[in-house]
Amino acid sequence: MRRGVSPLKIAMAGTELARGIDAVGCVDWSVRDFHSFDIQKGATYNAYLIRDEKTALIDTVKAPFAETLLRNIREKTDLADVDYVVCNHLEPDHAGGLPAVMKALPSATLVCNAKCRAELNGYFQTDGWKIQTLAPGETLSLGRRTLAFVNTPMVHWPESMVTYCPEEKILFSNDAFGQHLATSLLFDDQWPLEEILAEAKNYYANIVTPYGKQVLKTLETVLTLDIQMIAPSHGLIWRENLGEILAAYKNWASGRYAAKAVVLFDSMWESSARMAEEILRGAKEKSDSLDVVLLHVRRNPLSRIATELLDAPCAAIGSATLNAQMMPRMAAVLNYVKGLRFREKSGFAFGSSGWGPGGVEGIARWFEEVKYPTLVEPIRAIFRPTDEVLARCRAAGALLAETALAKAEES
Ligand code: FEO
Repeated sequence: MRRGVSPLKIAMAGTELARGIDAVGCVDWSVRDFHSFDIQKGATYNAYLIRDEKTALIDTVKAPFAETLLRNIREKTDLADVDYVVCNHLEPDHAGGLPAVMKALPSATLVCNAKCRAELNGYFQTDGWKIQTLAPGETLSLGRRTLAFVNTPMVHWPESMVTYCPEEKILFSNDAFGQHLATSLLFDDQWPLEEILAEAKNYYANIVTPYGKQVLKTLETVLTLDIQMIAPSHGLIWRENLGEILAAYKNWASGRYAAKAVVLFDSMWESSARMAEEILRGAKEKSDSLDVVLLHVRRNPLSRIATELLDAPCAAIGSATLNAQMMPRMAAVLNYVKGLRFREKSGFAFGSSGWGPGGVEGIARWFEEVKYPTLVEPIRAIFRPTDEVLARCRAAGALLAETALAKAEES
């Protein structure tokens, strides 16, 4: 049994969120790569069925899972009884199943916002589909229950929206508040909270980070709603720890810093690795309480690197020189990190080279490009770092620690 989880709550696992509202999505136990996001624990594509006087399906699943989704729906109702299919988000992990679903549900009308409607045909051949485009503020009555819709543009696509059922106080939040975690369980109180939050952070760092401002705006709206349950489109449903996930999102979206520094490096013949260790040593000599994370970029997936950077105020970045460039994996990492548009990280470039420059200089240019403040001039070793170079690394590590602590304190 999972640590800290009651047997009663394990026993309560099923598909029901509330009377007549069921999870009908799919678990993808084997997926490990989500468009370059390394997901070692798999994923779920959550969809929800609300049976009332009218029946609505909230979101579909990734295309290869459409038949499983239809089987799950069939266990709850006749496919001909589904009146609405709500599309909160067009990305294929949720909407990829639409063609199969719209074909199999003869009575269903696809419900989406105007932006989604405008983009729908970019993905799908929609001839023959009944489509209802939502006007701003429009609601959908299912009988005893109502569905309201809130556009959440760029959280994390232009057409993204969430669906709210006021009578049940459930927010179907689509990607927001999700986690990539394959599980047969449904709820957050059936799994150790720190693990779910760690996966939610991983998800946020790699998928949502560039849209912090929009997330804060969405949170403002969400906090005006009376919510007892948040049912995302990935991972576990929040019914017990809503305060924790909402607070975490606020921290991540506002770029709040932790007392932490990251040392990223790639090395060819251990010189840059030796410099990285000395930077770590200098940082730890300055502060025992600072969390200093040392990551060899060829030994860690992009997603782990991004997650560690999310709340770090400082980063030292180093590389050996290969063919007058930084190491290729470091170039890929920095390209990925640039796209995520983290809040600024103060830091510096370091690394080794032989007969010509390249690695350190490339990283220094990257610092300029992303407008991250630099604490010291780039530190370069020729072949092996000398004692003088190692002393500079140690001093720079101390400054990195001092700056990280000050920025975390101010944050
Ligand atoms: Fe889970 Fe943006 O798709």
